[in-house]
Amino acid sequence: MEKLNRIAVIGCGNVGTQFAFLAAAAGYSLYLYDVVEGLAKGRALDIMQAQRPLQFETSVQAIDDLSEASEANLWVITAGKPRKPGMSRADLANENIKIISTIAEKAKEAREDSIFIIVTNPLDIIVTKFMELTGFDRNRVLGMGGILDSARMSYFISKKTGVPAHKIESWVLGAHSDSMVPCFSLTKIDGQPAGNLLSEDDKKWVFDKTVNGGAEIVSYLKTGSAFLAPGASAYYLARAVLEDERLLLPVSVFSEGEYGFSEVAIGLPVEVGSRGAMRVVQLTLEEDEHQLLRRSYEEIKSFLKEI
Ligand code: NAI
Ligand code: 2OP
Repeated sequence: MEKLNRIAVIGCGNVGTQFAFLAAAAGYSLYLYDVVEGLAKGRALDIMQAQRPLQFETSVQAIDDLSEASEANLWVITAGKPRKPGMSRADLANENIKIISTIAEKAKEAREDSIFIIVTNPLDIIVTKFMELTGFDRNRVLGMGGILDSARMSYFISKKTGVPAHKIESWVLGAHSDSMVPCFSLTKIDGQPAGNLLSEDDKKWVFDKTVNGGAEIVSYLKTGSAFLAPGASAYYLARAVLEDERLLLPVSVFSEGEYGFSEVAIGLPVEVGSRGAMRVVQLTLEEDEHQLLRRSYEEIKSFLKEI
Protein backbone atom coordinates (compact mmCIF):
# COMPACT_ATOMS: atom_id res chain seq x y z
CA MET A 1 0.00 0.00 0.00
CA GLU A 2 1.22 3.53 -0.85
CA LYS A 3 2.67 5.40 2.13
CA LEU A 4 0.40 8.36 2.81
CA ASN A 5 2.77 11.18 3.63
CA ARG A 6 1.94 14.28 1.60
CA ILE A 7 -0.13 16.97 3.28
CA ALA A 8 -1.45 20.23 1.85
CA VAL A 9 -2.00 22.93 4.47
CA ILE A 10 -4.47 25.56 3.28
CA GLY A 11 -4.14 28.66 5.43
CA CYS A 12 -0.76 29.38 7.03
CA GLY A 13 -1.90 31.51 9.93
CA ASN A 14 -1.59 30.49 13.55
CA VAL A 15 -3.30 27.09 13.49
CA GLY A 16 -1.99 26.11 10.04
CA THR A 17 1.59 26.91 11.01
CA GLN A 18 1.42 25.09 14.34
CA PHE A 19 -0.03 22.06 12.56
CA ALA A 20 2.59 22.25 9.79
CA PHE A 21 5.45 22.46 12.27
CA LEU A 22 4.30 19.33 14.13
CA ALA A 23 3.69 17.42 10.90
CA ALA A 24 7.04 18.42 9.38
CA ALA A 25 8.91 17.50 12.55
CA ALA A 26 7.28 14.05 12.31
CA GLY A 27 8.66 13.70 8.77
CA TYR A 28 5.57 14.30 6.61
CA SER A 29 6.02 16.30 3.36
CA LEU A 30 4.07 19.50 3.17
CA TYR A 31 2.69 21.91 0.59
CA LEU A 32 1.78 25.24 2.19
CA TYR A 33 -0.73 27.66 0.67
CA ASP A 34 -2.10 31.03 1.81
CA VAL A 35 -3.75 33.93 -0.03
CA VAL A 36 -1.41 36.42 1.62
CA GLU A 37 1.58 36.79 -0.69
CA GLY A 38 4.83 35.50 0.78
CA LEU A 39 3.28 34.04 3.93
CA ALA A 40 3.49 30.37 2.86
CA LYS A 41 7.03 30.90 1.59
CA GLY A 42 8.14 32.49 4.87
CA ARG A 43 6.53 29.76 6.97
CA ALA A 44 8.03 27.01 4.79
CA LEU A 45 11.57 28.42 5.16
CA ASP A 46 11.13 28.93 8.88
CA ILE A 47 10.02 25.30 9.39
CA MET A 48 12.77 23.87 7.14
CA GLN A 49 15.40 25.76 9.14
CA ALA A 50 14.34 23.85 12.28
CA GLN A 51 15.57 20.55 10.79
CA ARG A 52 19.02 20.67 12.36
CA PRO A 53 18.01 21.51 15.98
CA LEU A 54 15.01 19.17 15.97
CA GLN A 55 16.73 16.48 13.89
CA PHE A 56 14.11 15.81 11.23
CA GLU A 57 14.26 15.52 7.46
CA THR A 58 11.41 16.45 5.16
CA SER A 59 10.23 18.75 2.38
CA VAL A 60 8.09 21.82 3.09
CA GLN A 61 7.22 23.72 -0.04
CA ALA A 62 5.13 26.85 -0.58
CA ILE A 63 2.71 26.70 -3.52
CA ASP A 64 1.17 29.63 -5.41
CA ASP A 65 -1.88 27.81 -6.65
CA LEU A 66 -3.99 25.11 -5.03
CA SER A 67 -3.78 23.04 -8.22
CA GLU A 68 -0.23 22.25 -7.15
CA ALA A 69 -1.68 20.43 -4.11
CA SER A 70 -3.52 17.87 -6.24
CA GLU A 71 -1.09 15.05 -5.33
CA ALA A 72 -1.55 15.50 -1.57
CA ASN A 73 -3.00 12.55 0.35
CA LEU A 74 -4.49 14.84 2.97
CA TRP A 75 -5.65 18.46 2.93
CA VAL A 76 -5.80 20.36 6.21
CA ILE A 77 -7.94 23.46 5.80
CA THR A 78 -7.38 26.20 8.36
CA ALA A 79 -8.07 29.14 6.03
CA GLY A 80 -10.44 31.69 7.48
CA LYS A 81 -10.91 34.41 9.98
CA PRO A 82 -10.37 33.58 13.65
CA ARG A 83 -12.63 34.70 16.47
CA LYS A 84 -12.04 38.10 18.12
CA PRO A 85 -13.23 39.06 21.65
CA GLY A 86 -17.01 39.31 21.82
CA MET A 87 -17.45 37.37 18.56
CA SER A 88 -19.20 34.02 18.49
CA ARG A 89 -18.08 31.30 16.10
CA ALA A 90 -21.35 31.93 14.27
CA ASP A 91 -20.34 35.55 13.56
CA LEU A 92 -17.61 34.15 11.38
CA ALA A 93 -19.96 32.13 9.23
CA ASN A 94 -20.60 34.34 6.23
CA GLU A 95 -17.00 35.41 5.80
CA ASN A 96 -15.64 31.89 6.12
CA ILE A 97 -18.26 30.29 3.86
CA LYS A 98 -16.98 32.55 1.06
CA ILE A 99 -13.43 31.37 1.73
CA ILE A 100 -14.36 27.68 1.89
CA SER A 101 -16.28 28.00 -1.39
CA THR A 102 -13.14 29.00 -3.31
CA ILE A 103 -11.21 26.14 -1.71
CA ALA A 104 -14.00 23.63 -2.45
CA GLU A 105 -13.73 24.42 -6.17
CA LYS A 106 -10.03 23.54 -6.15
CA ALA A 107 -10.59 20.51 -3.92
CA LYS A 108 -12.54 18.89 -6.75
CA GLU A 109 -9.20 18.58 -8.61
CA ALA A 110 -7.67 16.59 -5.74
CA ARG A 111 -6.86 12.88 -5.91
CA GLU A 112 -10.01 10.81 -5.57
CA ASP A 113 -8.66 9.06 -2.47
CA SER A 114 -7.51 12.24 -0.69
CA ILE A 115 -8.96 13.07 2.72
CA PHE A 116 -9.88 16.55 3.98
CA ILE A 117 -9.58 17.80 7.55
CA ILE A 118 -11.44 21.05 8.16
CA VAL A 119 -10.59 23.32 11.08
CA THR A 120 -12.18 26.59 9.92
CA ASN A 121 -15.05 27.88 12.09
CA PRO A 122 -17.95 27.73 12.60
CA LEU A 123 -16.82 24.17 12.22
CA ASP A 124 -19.93 22.07 11.68
CA ILE A 125 -21.43 24.71 9.37
CA ILE A 126 -18.27 24.86 7.27
CA VAL A 127 -18.01 21.04 7.07
CA THR A 128 -21.66 20.86 5.96
CA LYS A 129 -21.12 23.55 3.32
CA PHE A 130 -17.92 21.90 2.09
CA MET A 131 -19.80 18.60 1.70
CA GLU A 132 -22.59 20.34 -0.24
CA LEU A 133 -20.15 22.23 -2.47
CA THR A 134 -17.91 19.28 -3.32
CA GLY A 135 -20.40 16.40 -3.30
CA PHE A 136 -17.65 14.22 -1.78
CA ASP A 137 -18.47 10.96 -0.01
CA ARG A 138 -18.77 11.72 3.65
CA ASN A 139 -15.84 9.50 4.67
CA ARG A 140 -13.47 12.00 2.98
CA VAL A 141 -14.37 15.05 5.07
CA LEU A 142 -13.49 15.27 8.76
CA GLY A 143 -14.13 18.29 10.98
CA MET A 144 -11.68 18.85 13.84
CA GLY A 145 -13.35 20.39 16.88
CA GLY A 146 -14.36 17.62 19.27
CA ILE A 147 -10.75 16.45 19.65
CA LEU A 148 -9.78 19.91 20.88
CA ASP A 149 -12.83 20.21 23.15
CA SER A 150 -12.10 16.74 24.58
CA ALA A 151 -8.46 17.70 25.15
CA ARG A 152 -9.65 20.73 27.11
CA MET A 153 -12.04 18.55 29.12
CA SER A 154 -9.12 16.24 30.00
CA TYR A 155 -7.08 19.24 31.13
CA PHE A 156 -9.87 20.53 33.38
CA ILE A 157 -10.54 17.05 34.84
CA SER A 158 -6.82 16.82 35.52
CA LYS A 159 -6.99 20.11 37.45
CA LYS A 160 -9.74 18.65 39.67
CA THR A 161 -8.31 15.15 40.20
CA GLY A 162 -4.53 15.50 39.89
CA VAL A 163 -4.49 12.68 37.31
CA PRO A 164 -2.26 13.71 34.35
CA ALA A 165 -4.35 14.97 31.42
CA HIS A 166 -2.76 12.51 28.98
CA LYS A 167 -4.23 9.64 31.06
CA ILE A 168 -7.76 11.01 30.78
CA GLU A 169 -9.85 9.95 27.79
CA SER A 170 -12.58 12.57 27.54
CA TRP A 171 -15.46 12.74 25.13
CA VAL A 172 -17.10 15.91 23.86
CA LEU A 173 -19.74 15.38 21.16
CA GLY A 174 -22.06 17.70 19.25
CA ALA A 175 -21.23 21.01 17.61
CA HIS A 176 -17.89 22.74 18.14
CA SER A 177 -19.81 25.65 19.68
CA ASP A 178 -21.41 26.64 22.97
CA SER A 179 -23.87 23.75 22.51
CA MET A 180 -21.09 21.12 22.66
CA VAL A 181 -21.79 18.18 24.99
CA PRO A 182 -19.07 17.01 27.41
CA CYS A 183 -20.10 13.38 28.00
CA PHE A 184 -19.02 12.16 31.44
CA SER A 185 -20.62 8.75 30.86
CA LEU A 186 -18.02 7.97 28.16
CA THR A 187 -15.05 9.58 29.90
CA LYS A 188 -12.38 7.44 31.58
CA ILE A 189 -9.93 8.82 34.14
CA ASP A 190 -6.87 6.54 34.10
CA GLY A 191 -9.20 3.72 33.08
CA GLN A 192 -11.88 4.43 35.69
CA PRO A 193 -15.39 5.78 35.00
CA ALA A 194 -15.37 9.58 35.51
CA GLY A 195 -18.25 9.29 37.99
CA ASN A 196 -15.96 7.42 40.43
CA LEU A 197 -13.66 10.41 40.86
CA LEU A 198 -15.77 13.50 40.18
CA SER A 199 -18.56 14.91 42.37
CA GLU A 200 -21.60 16.53 40.77
CA ASP A 201 -20.07 19.95 41.57
CA ASP A 202 -16.80 18.91 39.93
CA LYS A 203 -18.68 17.79 36.84
CA LYS A 204 -20.51 21.08 36.59
CA TRP A 205 -17.24 22.99 36.88
CA VAL A 206 -15.53 20.83 34.23
CA PHE A 207 -18.56 21.10 31.94
CA ASP A 208 -18.64 24.92 32.10
CA LYS A 209 -14.87 25.34 31.80
CA THR A 210 -14.81 23.03 28.75
CA VAL A 211 -17.65 24.78 26.95
CA ASN A 212 -15.99 28.13 27.66
CA GLY A 213 -12.46 26.87 26.91
CA GLY A 214 -11.98 28.64 23.57
CA ALA A 215 -13.59 31.91 24.69
CA GLU A 216 -11.41 32.03 27.82
CA ILE A 217 -8.26 31.97 25.67
CA VAL A 218 -9.69 34.59 23.28
CA SER A 219 -10.34 36.86 26.27
CA TYR A 220 -6.62 36.72 27.21
CA LEU A 221 -5.11 36.86 23.71
CA LYS A 222 -7.43 39.68 22.57
CA THR A 223 -6.20 39.59 18.95
CA GLY A 224 -7.08 36.04 17.95
CA SER A 225 -7.92 32.59 19.24
CA ALA A 226 -6.13 29.50 20.53
CA PHE A 227 -3.78 27.82 18.09
CA LEU A 228 -1.30 25.55 19.92
CA ALA A 229 -3.75 22.91 21.21
CA PRO A 230 -5.84 23.31 18.00
CA GLY A 231 -2.78 22.64 15.81
CA ALA A 232 -1.86 19.66 18.00
CA SER A 233 -5.42 18.31 17.81
CA ALA A 234 -5.46 18.62 14.01
CA TYR A 235 -2.10 16.80 13.93
CA TYR A 236 -3.50 13.97 16.09
CA LEU A 237 -6.38 13.55 13.63
CA ALA A 238 -4.09 13.78 10.58
CA ARG A 239 -1.81 11.08 11.98
CA ALA A 240 -4.79 8.78 12.59
CA VAL A 241 -5.57 9.10 8.85
CA LEU A 242 -2.04 8.90 7.46
CA GLU A 243 -1.00 5.98 9.66
CA ASP A 244 -4.37 4.21 9.34
CA GLU A 245 -4.63 4.13 13.13
CA ARG A 246 -8.36 3.22 13.33
CA LEU A 247 -8.78 5.39 16.44
CA LEU A 248 -12.24 6.16 17.78
CA LEU A 249 -12.35 9.97 17.95
CA PRO A 250 -14.94 12.74 18.25
CA VAL A 251 -15.06 14.13 14.71
CA SER A 252 -17.56 16.29 12.87
CA VAL A 253 -18.98 14.22 10.02
CA PHE A 254 -22.01 14.50 7.78
CA SER A 255 -24.70 12.55 9.60
CA GLU A 256 -26.62 9.84 7.75
CA GLY A 257 -29.16 8.66 10.30
CA GLU A 258 -26.82 7.90 13.22
CA TYR A 259 -28.14 9.06 16.61
CA GLY A 260 -31.32 10.07 14.70
CA PHE A 261 -29.46 12.89 12.87
CA SER A 262 -29.16 13.61 9.15
CA GLU A 263 -28.08 16.16 6.53
CA VAL A 264 -25.73 18.21 8.70
CA ALA A 265 -22.23 17.67 10.06
CA ILE A 266 -21.97 17.22 13.82
CA GLY A 267 -19.35 15.83 16.22
CA LEU A 268 -19.90 12.07 16.69
CA PRO A 269 -17.67 9.11 17.62
CA VAL A 270 -15.90 8.14 14.41
CA GLU A 271 -13.40 5.40 13.65
CA VAL A 272 -10.61 7.20 11.78
CA GLY A 273 -8.22 5.49 9.38
CA SER A 274 -6.70 5.83 5.93
CA ARG A 275 -10.10 6.24 4.29
CA GLY A 276 -10.99 9.01 6.73
CA ALA A 277 -14.24 8.37 8.58
CA MET A 278 -14.32 4.58 8.35
CA ARG A 279 -17.57 4.36 10.35
CA VAL A 280 -19.68 6.31 12.82
CA VAL A 281 -20.07 4.38 16.06
CA GLN A 282 -23.29 4.43 18.07
CA LEU A 283 -22.25 4.65 21.75
CA THR A 284 -24.73 4.50 24.62
CA LEU A 285 -25.19 7.90 26.25
CA GLU A 286 -27.05 8.96 29.39
CA GLU A 287 -30.53 10.29 28.61
CA ASP A 288 -29.60 13.90 29.53
CA GLU A 289 -26.50 13.73 27.31
CA HIS A 290 -28.59 12.47 24.43
CA GLN A 291 -31.04 15.34 24.90
CA LEU A 292 -28.22 17.89 24.89
CA LEU A 293 -26.77 16.28 21.76
CA ARG A 294 -30.14 16.57 20.03
CA ARG A 295 -30.32 20.23 21.08
CA SER A 296 -26.87 20.81 19.58
CA TYR A 297 -28.00 19.14 16.33
CA GLU A 298 -31.13 21.34 16.22
CA GLU A 299 -28.92 24.40 16.74
CA ILE A 300 -26.73 23.48 13.75
CA LYS A 301 -29.81 22.85 11.61
CA SER A 302 -31.53 26.13 12.47
CA PHE A 303 -28.32 28.09 12.02
CA LEU A 304 -27.87 26.59 8.56
CA LYS A 305 -31.42 27.60 7.68
CA GLU A 306 -30.71 31.20 8.76
CA ILE A 307 -27.64 31.71 6.59
P1 NAI B 1 -5.26 33.13 11.30
O1 NAI B 1 -5.89 34.43 10.93
O2 NAI B 1 -4.01 33.14 12.08
O3 NAI B 1 -4.98 32.31 9.95
C1 NAI B 1 -5.92 32.16 8.94
C2 NAI B 1 -5.17 32.20 7.62
O4 NAI B 1 -6.07 31.88 6.56
C3 NAI B 1 -4.57 33.57 7.29
O5 NAI B 1 -3.18 33.44 7.11
C4 NAI B 1 -5.28 33.97 6.01
O6 NAI B 1 -4.48 34.71 5.11
C5 NAI B 1 -5.63 32.61 5.43
N1 NAI B 1 -6.66 32.64 4.40
C6 NAI B 1 -7.78 33.38 4.32
N2 NAI B 1 -8.45 33.11 3.17
C7 NAI B 1 -7.75 32.14 2.54
C8 NAI B 1 -7.93 31.42 1.33
N3 NAI B 1 -8.99 31.63 0.52
N4 NAI B 1 -7.01 30.50 0.98
C9 NAI B 1 -5.92 30.29 1.77
N5 NAI B 1 -5.69 30.94 2.92
C10 NAI B 1 -6.59 31.86 3.29
O7 NAI B 1 -6.38 32.25 12.03
P2 NAI B 1 -6.15 30.92 12.90
O8 NAI B 1 -6.02 31.28 14.30
O9 NAI B 1 -5.11 30.11 12.23
O10 NAI B 1 -7.59 30.22 12.73
C11 NAI B 1 -7.98 29.72 11.47
C12 NAI B 1 -9.41 29.22 11.51
O11 NAI B 1 -9.49 28.08 12.37
C13 NAI B 1 -10.42 30.21 12.08
O12 NAI B 1 -11.64 30.12 11.41
C14 NAI B 1 -10.60 29.75 13.53
O13 NAI B 1 -11.82 30.18 14.10
C15 NAI B 1 -10.53 28.28 13.33
N6 NAI B 1 -10.21 27.48 14.53
C16 NAI B 1 -10.89 26.32 14.69
C17 NAI B 1 -10.61 25.48 15.73
C18 NAI B 1 -11.32 24.17 15.84
O14 NAI B 1 -11.15 23.47 16.85
N7 NAI B 1 -12.10 23.78 14.85
C19 NAI B 1 -9.58 25.83 16.73
C20 NAI B 1 -8.89 27.05 16.44
C21 NAI B 1 -9.21 27.85 15.37
C1 2OP C 1 -11.36 27.35 19.84
O1 2OP C 1 -12.18 26.56 20.34
C2 2OP C 1 -11.56 29.24 18.32
O2 2OP C 1 -12.67 27.21 17.86
C3 2OP C 1 -11.55 27.80 18.44
O3 2OP C 1 -10.38 27.76 20.47
